[in-house]
Amino acid sequence: MKILAIETSCDETSAAIIEASSADQPIVVLSNVVASSLNLHKKTGGIVPEIAAREQMIAILPVIRKALYQASLTPNEINSIAVTYGPGLIGSLLVGVETAKVLALAWNKPLIPVNHLLGHVFVNWTSLDKVPSFPALGVIVSGGHTDLVWFSSPSNFKWIGGTRDDAAGECFDKCARIILDASYPGGPAISREASFVQSSPRVLPRPMIHDKSLEMSFSGLKTAVTLAMQSGLYSTDQQKRHLAFDLEQAIVDVLIRKITTAIIELHPTCLLVGGGVVANSVFRNRLSSLSQEMAIPLYFPSLSFCGDNAAMIGAAAFMVPSTPPPLSVVADPGLSF
Ligand code: KG4
Ligand code: ZN
Repeated sequence: MKILAIETSCDETSAAIIEASSADQPIVVLSNVVASSLNLHKKTGGIVPEIAAREQMIAILPVIRKALYQASLTPNEINSIAVTYGPGLIGSLLVGVETAKVLALAWNKPLIPVNHLLGHVFVNWTSLDKVPSFPALGVIVSGGHTDLVWFSSPSNFKWIGGTRDDAAGECFDKCARIILDASYPGGPAISREASFVQSSPRVLPRPMIHDKSLEMSFSGLKTAVTLAMQSGLYSTDQQKRHLAFDLEQAIVDVLIRKITTAIIELHPTCLLVGGGVVANSVFRNRLSSLSQEMAIPLYFPSLSFCGDNAAMIGAAAFMVPSTPPPLSVVADPGLSF
């Protein structure tokens, strides 16, 4: 089964071809082309939705053509088309969804609408020796979401916790702007500056870390970072590096604590982690230590599959397929679990 997948939920325009045979076999990524309009958003510091969507309209067909070319396939050799239908920016989602509908009708292929968040989980079926087992704890940590999701099986899942306000990635982004005047995405900038420091006094709070629930809250960290900057104690580059270090530790401390609580309470057979923040090396290292300490198998994507990409949408389409009539598929910016 070969699936052409399309992802346009944020600033990326991505198309991929994946090949899969059964859920207990790894999914093979034949091509995964990702174009981004990030450079065009540097001036504003954040993504301008209209600019992103306009660029995606220009990029979408060349990106799809390139994905087919790199996989050495013609449209005839594709079995179905998958597309992200939410959550995300409405203009961006529309470009992918409408393109996928037209191609599905023109090429006479089934269309599989995919929840972007499931993509971040099922990307873990690509490039593996051994596929994950169930029940599993899904952990999605991205720019828009921080979710803990219980998977009894691939298609049977339930949201069990997560942030009640800002996502972890959003916290990295907003604080990077406050501390370093860095534009989106701020996570890599915080991580780079923090890496110059070996340790730092703990000045920032670890919000809700002692709360027994699986809820998180990251918006207070932004206020704490603003107050720290206003104190005048973080004016030099070295001082800012210390604040970046403490911020990274604070976010990771909270995430690891909540994941640990969920493991103790629910006894999953493995951890399925995904999302842009999983590119963070401190988080990756702490996840690996946790996996060893608690003897629980851990799956997280290689760096190139942490951020948004269409291969993950193809993987989710294979694992949780549904094929409604193509014309009934509509973009849903507020889609959740
Ligand atoms: O999954 P993703 O590409 O897009 C969404 O679906 O949101 O995640 C993007 C997020 C941004 O907030 C970005 O700052 C964060 O992932 N991110 C990182 C790192 N690389 C990307 N956060 C911390 N450390 C990183 N190295
Ligand atoms: Zn994402």
